[in-house]
Amino acid sequence: MEKKITVLRGDGIGPEIVNEALRVLDAVCKKYGHTFTYTDVDIGGCSIDKFGVPITDEGMEQCKNCDSVLLGAVGGPKWDSVDPSIRPEKALLKVRSELGLFANLRPTKLFPQLADASPLKDTVVGQGIDLMIVRELTGGIYFGKRSTTETNGEKVATDEMLYTEHEIERIGRVAFESARKRNKKLASVDKANVLDCSRLWRAVMHRLSEEYPDVQYSDILVDNTAMQLIRDPGQFDTIVTENMFGDILSDEASMLTGSIGMMPSASLSSGTLGMYEPIHGSAPDIAGMNIANPLGTILSAAMMLRYSFSMTEEADAIEAAVNRVLDEGYRTGDIMQEGMKKVSCSEMGTLVAERI
Ligand code: IPM
Ligand code: MG
Repeated sequence: MEKKITVLRGDGIGPEIVNEALRVLDAVCKKYGHTFTYTDVDIGGCSIDKFGVPITDEGMEQCKNCDSVLLGAVGGPKWDSVDPSIRPEKALLKVRSELGLFANLRPTKLFPQLADASPLKDTVVGQGIDLMIVRELTGGIYFGKRSTTETNGEKVATDEMLYTEHEIERIGRVAFESARKRNKKLASVDKANVLDCSRLWRAVMHRLSEEYPDVQYSDILVDNTAMQLIRDPGQFDTIVTENMFGDILSDEASMLTGSIGMMPSASLSSGTLGMYEPIHGSAPDIAGMNIANPLGTILSAAMMLRYSFSMTEEADAIEAAVNRVLDEGYRTGDIMQEGMKKVSCSEMGTLVAERI
């Protein structure tokens, strides 16, 4: 098959980790006889430096006219003081919104080889961690109206949180379908004891749950979820939640697995076009040092093959290759432990590619 992939390397460690994912994708092409063509587009701080905006209109067009988008990471302290309307993160939100990527899947899985790397090893790791967080990605407080005004001599800031029934229902369906393919257990996370958005969210989810009687459904408040994820993560299978809660809970959940560097994500639309990126940020403190963990990006590339290209066997091959490299004891610094073999970012990518 031939596929056109738009590549957004971004800032910080973005370029390094994306290079390794492309190395692995090239190995997949070679083995399975596919042709992937890559087109680079600047995004985030590097685009601000070149063009004065975090993504150009031509760049956006390129993202819309391809088969899928692979992203590294955006942002860094260098751009912390630029005008909020052109911050690096704005470009990411723009791509998510303009491509209609409303469903963000964040699988949180503990590779048994890394059990000792989890800071919670004594309490939770025995249970094994295998969650799917389904995060609503194009609504809520991220996309509501914002303003900073001055009233009675002091500054006042507002960020509006807004959800329509339609937005809740379509992410709800993604979550119920995803739960169906897993352990048929779905927890919907909200703050219905305080927020109207959450009360609407809950009502829509309840209505949907009647269409999915085979899925064991429950509601849980977000603060309790934060606690339960640490106390007893094994009780969860699929979690669905609104945009900001999903952002926060997925970072928390990543620590159950030992390192945020391991976690991939898929942002999906109602068609096959998707964007794939690790859930971590641009890690400016280690940028350019060739020590970042590329596995989150490599596993995101596997999700791209699975969800956008329906290449199940190829996606399985990447995941199996990652497993083998971990079995063989290779570790980047973030997951390094005694007795293991420490490798650089590029060595890790090469090792995975060789095992395809
Ligand atoms: C993520 C990131 C982004 C988000 C930032 C960079 C805008 O934290 O993908 O989780 O908040 O969605
Ligand atoms: Mg985040």
